[in-house]
Amino acid sequence: MDIRLLRPSDIPHVQTANITNLPENYFCKYYLYHALSWPQLSYVAVDVSGSDTNDPYAIPRIVGYVLAKMEEEPTDAPHGHITSLSVMRTHRRLGLAEKLMRQSQKAMVECFGAKYVSLHVRVSNTAALHLYQNTLQFESDKIEAKYYADGEDAYSMRKDLTFLE
Ligand code: ACO
Repeated sequence: MDIRLLRPSDIPHVQTANITNLPENYFCKYYLYHALSWPQLSYVAVDVSGSDTNDPYAIPRIVGYVLAKMEEEPTDAPHGHITSLSVMRTHRRLGLAEKLMRQSQKAMVECFGAKYVSLHVRVSNTAALHLYQNTLQFESDKIEAKYYADGEDAYSMRKDLTFLE
């Protein structure tokens, strides 16, 4: 498995993974906005097994992605935000989500001086909550009532990144 930066040409495959794994979906231009504005922050996991690495026309098998951006508000310290993260069912529990998140967090600090990283997650999402709270040491900031379109609440979470400076 290869973890590398998201390229604009990956976007249709990332969009497919997103639609397969999550109900929160985005227009192509929103992915492009991330890829062009903060090209250092979004990563993909590519399954290279069985692929011909010399074939320039080979379609990358994207099995996971993290889509991330910076929030640069004048009233707050610079911080990163995880817009979306998912891994295909066939490739879960292999540590891919943790690797994608750690790469993005590192780049937020090194490239943009991020002081912390934030995200939202459904209160019922036990897999993601384990990853964020137990594996990556995010802390729950507050609950945002009815954050999602179907009425479910979100935990607003954040993780201090100053230890990476
Ligand atoms: N239940 C409990 N713990 C789990 C589960 C699960 N179903 N899945 C993974 N974990 C734990 C792992 O055991 C590991 O814990 P450890 O560090 O104590 O050993 C930790 O979470 C990280 O595991 P990874 O293998 O890195 O996670 P994975 O690659 O399987 O991806 C993810 C986790 C992204 C949540 C995946 O299940 C998924 O894509 N789910 C659907 C989409 C989703 O919910 N995305 C997050 C939405 S929030 C957002 O986008 C900001």
